[in-house]
Amino acid sequence: MTSSADHPLQTVLLPDGARLAVTIHGTGQPLLLLHGFPLDHSMWVGQLPLARSYQLILPDQRGFGASSCPAGSQGPASIEQMADDAAALLEGLGLEEPVTVCGLSMGGYVSQHLAVRHPRLVGSLILVDTKLEADTPEARAGRGELAAKVSRLGQEVVARAMIPNLLAAAPAEPALQAQHRTACVQELSRMIHACPVGTMTAALAALGARPDMSAAMRGVACPVLLVVGALDTITPPACLERAAGIFPHARLRIVPGCGHMTPLEAPEIFNAEVEDFLRGVAADRAAAGGLEGDRQAGDRDVADRVVADRPGHPAGLAGHSGLGANPLADER
Ligand code: MLT
Repeated sequence: MTSSADHPLQTVLLPDGARLAVTIHGTGQPLLLLHGFPLDHSMWVGQLPLARSYQLILPDQRGFGASSCPAGSQGPASIEQMADDAAALLEGLGLEEPVTVCGLSMGGYVSQHLAVRHPRLVGSLILVDTKLEADTPEARAGRGELAAKVSRLGQEVVARAMIPNLLAAAPAEPALQAQHRTACVQELSRMIHACPVGTMTAALAALGARPDMSAAMRGVACPVLLVVGALDTITPPACLERAAGIFPHARLRIVPGCGHMTPLEAPEIFNAEVEDFLRGVAADRAAAGGLEGDRQAGDRDVADRVVADRPGHPAGLAGHSGLGANPLADER
């Protein structure tokens, strides 16, 4: 595994004065990983082994983790703004080729907007435990109530409300094991308690205001991998099944035994799915005229060769990350 010590936290200054903290691990094809709410880049600890083959770009989104906001704000104003932040980050890092963008839940909403607002930057998309639809009025009202409570009572309210829903409740043999689940709970709790209250309330408002992206996603021609935990109750498999019918070129994987945090709950399966998908994209790219030719031609031809892969072929057994001390947690 690549050592985090070799890849210290960098800071990228955004046009409005926000500073995004980012760590970069490995070399190779860039893979941008966008965390969920109200977490930070260290939720991707189980993906560090992917740095053997890919360049992992792990930002804390505005207000979260070690990233900051300009004076007068404590969190994101909108999901669109977070997508523009990610674009500015990629440009700030000098990445000229399209990258693979992978986002979990809130990170998945940001990824969708990035694909629409900055299509030149997105070569392929991995959407994890997320959805295309906007909030229902009830869900939006629930976010308002949670924001009011967290303002009054602090992060513990969010930890109590969210953690039971983030992880699979009753892992079935031979899925998530108790020790690993306990480590996941501790990691989630650490991240949630570290998130500033102002960032949480701003993000809750941004999440509640996000638009339905279903129509926009019909126009996303790049290869798409959709991954969801079979036991995800926040964005259940039905959300991703609907999405699979919308993207022109999508492959869907439903991971048994996992809840809303598939990359944390079953990192080995998740990583294998990502590697398999990216190998396929690279092979199709090569077949479409050679890597170099494809770079010049863009990703249009590649996307056309990706086979839609519908549900019914679960990925296999949930695995362990060996999650102990999170090497991504103490970088700042
Ligand atoms: C997340 O995991 O990022 C959130 O659950 C997203 C949401 O509440 O819609």
